[in-house]
Amino acid sequence: MCGIVGYIGKRNVVDVLIKGLETLEYRGYDSAGIAVNSDNEIKVYKKIGKLINLKNLLEEKKNEINNVTMGIGHIRWATHGGATDINAHPHTCTCGKLVVVHNGIIENFKELKEDLIKKGCVFRSQTDTETIAHLFAHEYGKTHDLTLAVKKGLEQIKGAYAICVMHKDEPDKIIASRKNAPLVIGVGEGENFIGSDIPAFIEYTKKAIYLEDGEIAVVKENSLEFFDANLNKIEKKIEQLPWEPVALSKLGFKHFMLKEIHEQPDVIRNVLNGKLFDIDEPIVLDEVKIDKESLKNLNRIEIIACGTSLHAAMVGKFLIEDFTGIAVDVEASSEYIYRKTVTNDKTLVIGVSQSGETADTITAIRQAKDKGAHVLIITNRPDSSMARYADSLIPVSAGIEISVAATKSYTAQVLSFYLLAIKLAEIKGTLSPEYMKNLKHELIQVPVKIEEILNNKEQIKKVAKKFANFRNFIFIARGINLPTALEGALKLKEISYINATGYSAGELKHGPIAMLDETMPVLSIMIPGGVTYDKILSNSEEAKARNARLIALTSSKDENLKDIFEDVITIPEIPEMLSPIVANVPCQLLAYYIAEFLGKDVDQPRNLAKSVTVE
Ligand code: AGP
Repeated sequence: MCGIVGYIGKRNVVDVLIKGLETLEYRGYDSAGIAVNSDNEIKVYKKIGKLINLKNLLEEKKNEINNVTMGIGHIRWATHGGATDINAHPHTCTCGKLVVVHNGIIENFKELKEDLIKKGCVFRSQTDTETIAHLFAHEYGKTHDLTLAVKKGLEQIKGAYAICVMHKDEPDKIIASRKNAPLVIGVGEGENFIGSDIPAFIEYTKKAIYLEDGEIAVVKENSLEFFDANLNKIEKKIEQLPWEPVALSKLGFKHFMLKEIHEQPDVIRNVLNGKLFDIDEPIVLDEVKIDKESLKNLNRIEIIACGTSLHAAMVGKFLIEDFTGIAVDVEASSEYIYRKTVTNDKTLVIGVSQSGETADTITAIRQAKDKGAHVLIITNRPDSSMARYADSLIPVSAGIEISVAATKSYTAQVLSFYLLAIKLAEIKGTLSPEYMKNLKHELIQVPVKIEEILNNKEQIKKVAKKFANFRNFIFIARGINLPTALEGALKLKEISYINATGYSAGELKHGPIAMLDETMPVLSIMIPGGVTYDKILSNSEEAKARNARLIALTSSKDENLKDIFEDVITIPEIPEMLSPIVANVPCQLLAYYIAEFLGKDVDQPRNLAKSVTVE
């Protein structure tokens, strides 16, 4: 989605802004722009499309960009008004002296706009953001104080925002503020940075200050001042960022997605580190504040998430119900927030989110908190807005994920659910010590099994090459691997635009079977040793009888499978209960290689955004 960068200092401002925007590109966008204070004028450059278009424009105009002291930049993912040069940010007021970039949505922009037009403001774009520029400029006209004007303007705005504002007549400062959209200040020496996410400035500083909702920052070259929404001065803590800039590099892989798929064994080791010491030791989840007493008080668990995180949640439901007997519901956040839910103070609500900034999930979590639920957040970003609402937290520690298609964060979320479900079973005493020991032993083996799959990619590449030109694809599974089928299909459609769908294998004959013929590949995920293998095999036979092109993803060594399946993708042996965490990896690779054969933009698929900050 949209991204913001701001800089004030002695470096080449345009370079810092463009580099910052490049690091945010992964979020998905359709236009880009910057505004600089150059020769004491506010100059704005913006262009539809990828950053290269903006760079070309800046190259053309380089002679008019001189003596630049500060600047703000933005990449836009269109919400109000199409993707055009004019709708791209930054937006200025009528006289062009005040300029703003904005992430989020201004809900009352129509009323504000009508009023501002009556007052003489001339609007050029169809965006809600332009309203902010005119509103602040109108307030500035009364006070001639940018900080006060921003405060007065923000009081009139309803909605979500992260903003950066500059004014020609106050060339020593950028004003930044946020509400329900992230914004971070990067603290430098003789320079300061602003970013909607840390990558925007991690190359220059590892010190950051997170703004809270309603706070206003006055960012100058040699100073930082912070105020609450009433302009009372406040003190803020400087945090040391754990990231190295190298986390943002592809490290020799062609795409971030491929790199992130390969990072998964280490991610798992990292997640287990400090949480699972030994098969005889209890699971340690330091920030989960649930004990025997509070668990007694619980009558159900609700897990809320979107997209890939929703699929991890489905695995979580299966595990928690199986290990503890507690009833678990899983729901898409976007559905949860628009109905009368029965959440109350006897409910544990688990929010799952890679980014921790997904608007639907944030709203759902807020609603759950208002109803008195204990909120547990599973996120890859313990510095996110969602983490701030958490009563309990499981940081999934997958490291920054750049590719829009989530891979390693999914694996880390699924693993976190194993740890949580075992932990809850330990508290409740619902699993035998032997069974738990075995689970823990198997979890520790998972990284090696994934390494085996990664070392044996050729089998998957071959299948990808063969099926890359099919327009449809079905993934089937049952039980704990149904989410694996849904996630496999989501991954394939996200990056290759193939119409891929995941079904419960048992549901195939209740409708989808009508679609089957020789143009339809069906990938069956079947893990022997459990209750579903034989059933999925029968369901696959039914598909074969309708001429579908069958692929098996299995740990079975049964040679007879070659009589039924055209291709067999083999994974290492693993108990069915643990298999989702391993079986998902070949699906990720299949999606990757198909998209790669089709020449798609793997890391930044069309229309998608890494973190969806609008409802
Ligand atoms: C994953 O590949 C997708 N890009 C998307 O479905 C994502 O999982 C969803 O938008 C939820 O994001 P979150 O985990 O950051 O909340």
